[in-house]
Amino acid sequence: MKRVFSGIQPTGNLHIGNYIGAMRQFIELQQEMDCVYCVVDMHSITLPQDPQELKKSTLDVAALYLSVGLDPKKSIIFVQSTVPAHAELSWILTCNSHTGELFRMTQFKDKNKGDESAPAGLLTYPLLMAADILLYDTDIVPVGNDQKQHIELTRDIAQRINHRFPKAFVVPDYRGMKIGARIMALDDPTSKMSKSAQNPLSRITLLDEPTRSKAIMKATTDSEGTVRFDTEEKPGISNLLTIYSVFSGQEIKAIEHQYEGLGYGAFKKDLVDVVIEGVAPIRQRFDEIRHSQELIRILEDGTRRADAIAQKTLKRVKDVFGLGV
Ligand code: TYM
Repeated sequence: MKRVFSGIQPTGNLHIGNYIGAMRQFIELQQEMDCVYCVVDMHSITLPQDPQELKKSTLDVAALYLSVGLDPKKSIIFVQSTVPAHAELSWILTCNSHTGELFRMTQFKDKNKGDESAPAGLLTYPLLMAADILLYDTDIVPVGNDQKQHIELTRDIAQRINHRFPKAFVVPDYRGMKIGARIMALDDPTSKMSKSAQNPLSRITLLDEPTRSKAIMKATTDSEGTVRFDTEEKPGISNLLTIYSVFSGQEIKAIEHQYEGLGYGAFKKDLVDVVIEGVAPIRQRFDEIRHSQELIRILEDGTRRADAIAQKTLKRVKDVFGLGV
């Protein structure tokens, strides 16, 4: 059976971009593949975090995994820092990657902005991600479009090492959604929706409600006034149409038809309802599970199962490199 691995950082509130671009795939894939899903808390400390907030967010993301529909009987769900092999393999990969390829990562360039006092972890971040993936002999990595470059780097490093030591690693493939691989910010449809953007009206979070309808009603659109999908000319409306389509289950063409002759106001008003209805069951399950012992038990079980796989791969890789006695 094919192995799937993916992860989400417990930094800030998860938003509908995370759900549409990544989590929807997680749920789809768990039906037919051997899935491992991780809360990547060690990635979060590439930037300073409040320790208590980090612990809280880690459990929030784990609870959200279950709330959106992941089944611990089908998928392994665990927290990255509870499986030490991630950090160990990350070092081996660090010694087999080039500083140039790390400096070329667009996420690094965006976050670092040439600041020499930025944490070194920002630069080596994709290597910890590569370790996450390679440790589980992963075939498929379901992510949003913004992570594609990191998967390509993972492939390059795995192939480079395999060239020297054949079959050291399984080379993984990127998997993205056809619709919604990149959900854009509501206040600026030329940049992606992000957990860390300053303006809370730029995103729709999965958990807290107050800003949702305001964010949608104020979303940047264009002056044409027709609800039509055209990412080049109408990125704002196209983004809203994508969100509408995902939460309503309707085809984009059908939605365009439904709003023919009606203005953006009517469309946005309905979108508020569609989104609120779409995320309500997630919130409800989250409230049921977030403070339960069941959540802790599921994560402990996940750690045990993930660790067993990771230890096996790490031993194989250490042997390949001649590490240990
Ligand atoms: P993170 O935590 O930023 O995002 C989690 C997932 O959500 C996707 N995503 C989006 N998809 C569509 N539209 C958006 N606006 C949007 N914003 C985020 C991301 O692509 C991602 O799939 N480095 C990763 C976490 C990671 C990981 C891994 C992923 C660490 N190790 C191993 C896969 C495999 C990250 O920071 O994602």
